[in-house]
Amino acid sequence: MKNQKIGDGIYWIGVQDFTTYMFEGMWPIDQEGVNYNAYIVEGDDKIALIDTVKSIKTDEYFENIESVLGDKVPDYLVVNHMEPDHSSSIEAVINRYPGIRIVGNTKTFPMIENFYQIDDHFLEITNGGELDLGGRKLQFFFTPMVHWPESMVTFDQKTGTLFSMDIFGSFKATVGSIFADENDIESFEEPTYRYYACIVGKVTEMAQRSLGALAPLTINTICPSHGMIWRTPEDIDYLLKLWTKLAYAKTEPGVIITYGTMYGNTRESADIIADTLREAGVKTIKMYDVGRTNISYILADLWKYQGAIFGSPAYYGGIFPLMQNLLYKLEGNKLRNHVAGFFTEYSWSGGAERVFQDFVKKTGTVEAADMVRVQGAPNKQDTVALKTLAHAVATEIVAAQNEAEAQLQAE
Ligand code: FEO
Repeated sequence: MKNQKIGDGIYWIGVQDFTTYMFEGMWPIDQEGVNYNAYIVEGDDKIALIDTVKSIKTDEYFENIESVLGDKVPDYLVVNHMEPDHSSSIEAVINRYPGIRIVGNTKTFPMIENFYQIDDHFLEITNGGELDLGGRKLQFFFTPMVHWPESMVTFDQKTGTLFSMDIFGSFKATVGSIFADENDIESFEEPTYRYYACIVGKVTEMAQRSLGALAPLTINTICPSHGMIWRTPEDIDYLLKLWTKLAYAKTEPGVIITYGTMYGNTRESADIIADTLREAGVKTIKMYDVGRTNISYILADLWKYQGAIFGSPAYYGGIFPLMQNLLYKLEGNKLRNHVAGFFTEYSWSGGAERVFQDFVKKTGTVEAADMVRVQGAPNKQDTVALKTLAHAVATEIVAAQNEAEAQLQAE
């Protein structure tokens, strides 16, 4: 995709990546791809680049820069964030524009040195500090830990354009237009949930703080580092509401059942729970086999829905390793505002229940009912216990469902 004009002196010069299979080496983006957005801001006297792109796309990035600037040379490279999906073309930028100044904060520069062995060209700015480009000023706001310690956003005061870095980003590359009002916004919702749960979920309190710090700004356009550019009041309102919902982990009624299984017995228990939930009136029920689904999809739905039921067989005195993998990431994300339940399956001495109990303790998860332990396959007594667990979860979810429906009718 070629450069696109965003506003007075502002251009998108980013790239789409349909090559990388796993973002951060963990999260599949093979089908949907991802944008690495970068920008140019031209003042009367100076020109700033905002961020670079992943180094597999450096050539395309330079083509886009030159299609906007021609022979003109940028004066500044603002480094909002050092994760290599945005920073790994810094060295190439310095080689091409040896006079350029790298704009960052005290936490940015040691990272540039460590990643790229570059220790000069630096121009340090402060939180709230400004950079005069002539006829317009860029202002900088630090947003630590969203997503890394050095993370910051850049605000063009003249046009009210916020270069929001990872904040307001999503998986899924744009095709054709970069603008939200020229794309199918709904098709970006699931990739946004997945992006948030996988990339930002662990630091959601910091995301809340950053959203609060940016609230006083009068924003006309939002230019994130991933996903679309938002420029209409309706779309910006939608985006702010969605990100507030994400940051405060406001869930929707529905139950996610996640299980691991080796021979289908744990799946049998999961089926009993799913049937009971449906009979009790739960409308949204989703079931994931942790052995078949990348955990990013499960994390996204766990961020979205209120009910969370987990089932796992024992495995050599511990828990099914693929469930352990999910729990490891969930320990960071936590189950916030959730109604949770657990069931295990064992053949002789068990072990999964101890891991689940540790998880509950560490994360402060509230269990809706006692954990159910099934030896072998579920018998009549186990079925009663599984149904009791499902009913306990369903009671709270159906109440939330009714409340949400009443609210919708009232609007
Ligand atoms: Fe898109 Fe945290 O980098």
